Amino acid sequence: MRKVAIVSGKGGIGKTTLAINLGYLLHNEFNFNTTVIDCNLT
Ligand SMILES: Nc1ncnc2c1ncn2[C@@H]1O[C@H](COP(=O)(O)OP(=O)(O)OP(=O)(O)O)[C@@H](O)[C@H]1O
Ligand SMILES: [Mg+2]
Repeated sequence: MRKVAIVSGKGGIGKTTLAINLGYLLHNEFNFNTTVIDCNLT
């Protein structure tokens, strides 16, 4: 299993947008079983 972390100390810079699209592509274009978890440091 591989983990990809998309991290920034600043809010609203596109982490969720990138994570959703990356997860979509990994599953639908590259056939990986994919889990996307969106969380917040606080
Ligand atoms: N489809 C869209 N069209 C235009 N702007 C968008 C779209 N989707 C997201 N945005 C804007 O892009 C920016 C980044 O959104 P996103 O939610 O991906 O950032 P984030 O890093 O996950 O934010 P947060 O730190 O609050 O979780 C936000 O200002 C959001 O309003
Ligand atoms: Mg977000």
